[in-house]
Amino acid sequence: MPILDTKDVTKQFGGLVAVNQVSMTVNKNEIVGIIGPNGAGKTSFINALTGIYKPSGGQIFFQGKDITGFPAYKIAKQGIARTFQNLRVFSNISVLENVLIGAHCRIDNPFHHIFLRPLRSKKIERQAYAKVIALLKNVGLEEKKESLAKNLSYGEQRTLEICRALASDPELLILDEPCAGMNSAEMDTLADFVKKLRDEGQTIVVIEHNMCFIMAVSDRIIVMTEGAKFREGTPAEIRNDLEVQKVYLGEQEVE
Ligand SMILES: Nc1ncnc2c1ncn2[C@@H]1O[C@H](COP(=O)(O)OP(=O)(O)OP(=O)(O)O)[C@@H](O)[C@H]1O
Ligand SMILES: [Mg+2]
Repeated sequence: MPILDTKDVTKQFGGLVAVNQVSMTVNKNEIVGIIGPNGAGKTSFINALTGIYKPSGGQIFFQGKDITGFPAYKIAKQGIARTFQNLRVFSNISVLENVLIGAHCRIDNPFHHIFLRPLRSKKIERQAYAKVIALLKNVGLEEKKESLAKNLSYGEQRTLEICRALASDPELLILDEPCAGMNSAEMDTLADFVKKLRDEGQTIVVIEHNMCFIMAVSDRIIVMTEGAKFREGTPAEIRNDLEVQKVYLGEQEVE
């Protein structure tokens, strides 16, 4: 059974059909890339999946459960974590605190337990802290854990946002243009990190315009145009598809 299964997901804004009957599956432990020209509906599709937008039509199944129309916080609790196309780190708190916030997203430790079950609460907090430190170590940000997020480079802030999403231990991680604003060294590091996550069992959907990155990390690629799914295939199939190349003409060439 696929971990994510969407059936004819549609999102309309008045007369504009931003997402048009998109059906796709994501299997456990694979990286699915989504590409397409600007305005193709990639972010709107992800927003519909993660409860930022209520779908106008279609169904979304996550781990076999119908989550269509669930609000964003409930979808996060089910185990879907995401990053945003526009950075959303909390600038004026530390790197560590940014990631701890992500860890709490799925921790079941009600506030009153701090008083009623202090030992259990402390243990949960200790575990969350250890996990966050391990994550920061993994991406080379541990030494900067006390820095304010705003003092990190742009690429580091993007990496921090991914750590925050990962801290909730998601079954599915969705990245919306993680390479935007990164230099090529940061991009290479990110590609290695994303592949390592997959090798450790993480399931990932990634939207990205950078073709080198998407071709390097994806097991399967979905091409969207004008709100709809246009093609689906392996990176090699997509790279060699003349119709896909035409879609990108005038924007950028599939390298
Ligand atoms: N909240 C909204 N209200 C109205 N129209 C919207 C809204 N969000 C997106 N759209 C429209 O939906 C279409 C798809 O936009 P979307 O941002 O999903 O594309 P995208 O593939 O993510 O593009 P990009 O690669 O530039 O990020 C566009 O025409 C956009 O203007
Ligand atoms: Mg987008």
